[in-house]
Amino acid sequence: MNNSLKILNTFNLKVNVYKIFLIKDLKKLCQLWEKYKKKYYPCLILGEGSNVLFLNDFYGLVIINRIKGIYIRESKKYWNLHVNSGENWHKLVKFTIKKKIYGLENLALIPGCVGSAPIQNIGAYGSSIKDFCQYVDIIDPVSKKIKRLNNKDCQFKYRNSVFKHKNYKKYIIISIGLFLPKKWIPNLKYHCLKHLKNHNITPQKIFNYICNIRKKKIPHPKIYGNAGSFFKNPYISLQKGFKLLQIFPNMPYVLKNNYMKLSAGWLINQCNFSKFLYKGVTVYSKQSLIIVNKFNNSSGMDILNFAIKIYNTVGNKFDIWLEPEVRIIDNYGEINPLIYFKNNNN
Ligand code: FAD
Ligand code: EPU
Repeated sequence: MNNSLKILNTFNLKVNVYKIFLIKDLKKLCQLWEKYKKKYYPCLILGEGSNVLFLNDFYGLVIINRIKGIYIRESKKYWNLHVNSGENWHKLVKFTIKKKIYGLENLALIPGCVGSAPIQNIGAYGSSIKDFCQYVDIIDPVSKKIKRLNNKDCQFKYRNSVFKHKNYKKYIIISIGLFLPKKWIPNLKYHCLKHLKNHNITPQKIFNYICNIRKKKIPHPKIYGNAGSFFKNPYISLQKGFKLLQIFPNMPYVLKNNYMKLSAGWLINQCNFSKFLYKGVTVYSKQSLIIVNKFNNSSGMDILNFAIKIYNTVGNKFDIWLEPEVRIIDNYGEINPLIYFKNNNN
């Protein structure tokens, strides 16, 4: 078993898998899936491996999805895009702007494939894919049955959707539909974009601005292996939030309906993890929510152990138990992170 996934996961982990295939058409994908499933091999589909942590080698089939195609239709008020799941997300954002189709600029430079984007409802700078997603087409690669889920069926929430639910894990996302209004309204509600108001703002300017801040704040995975934010930002009750504010008056927060959204990066910062290097793993100096494989020679277990230390330290200090955003994969497939990250106080 010496098929390496090193360049196919952004943590740059040296993991081997039984078989890897890069697939450009759906028929071939289903044939392979069925063949290996029949032999009881675990099967896993990947886009660009930018949201996965492999704990060790994977004893099965990995399909790298490169099924491409972008199709544009228009109505009086909307652009409608049908995009196959193996397209690169950032290239799609650039392509739309070049075609004068606007709206996706706040989601620039998010790594990964188009088909992975709805799974965790990718989001950044005040926008998320749920705002533009009209439908998601999925296939059961064994029965070959195809289903179309509309925006509501996708149950999009913060870093969540129906595609993370147990009943949907057997499906593969084959394409998505996006609708983008022809009348463009800039989305500048995110705190660091507010000052751009009234500056003859254009989609291209927002795109450039966001690419620049992202390049400053987020390490390039080729330099320091990482998977973006390791944990989600926590939502806590207002009661708990206001109690914490009495102790930590500088704690950043956002009020969302009846909840307080905190910054996991800030909580991690308060525990001084940027000064802590564990077997080559640390947090990024400019963004504590990003765990980095600093010398690109740590193992998946090293990264997991470091993440558990963060989880326990933040939990014990603030009584806030962070939830991983990154998907964790062992020898046979994805595992429930609660096996490792469990609130010991419960
Ligand atoms: P992969 O890591 O390849 O797969 C992720 C999961 O989806 C796996 O469980 C896989 O099996 C499953 N999957 C993949 N393709 C399919 C398919 N076609 N059908 C069914 N299941 C599938 N995320 C944000 O939301 N906002 C950000 O700002 C952001 N910034 C990031 C910055 C960096 C530097 C990095 C490395 C990551 C960042 N992320 C961000 C996370 C990541 O970009 C997203 O989660 C992205 O959508 C993952 O795409 P991928 O193709 O790499 O998915
Ligand atoms: N902060 C700190 N220290 C840190 C990091 C953040 O104090 O080390 C505080 C600051 O107050 C800062 C605030 O948190 O102003 C927000 O920070 P930032 O704008 O960097 O965003 P984030 O909440 O840390 C989220 C997403 C990112 C997304 C950015 C921009 C999650 C888990 N992460 O990070 O998404 O790019 O907002 O919108 O929601 C990802 O999901 O992988 C990801 C990178």
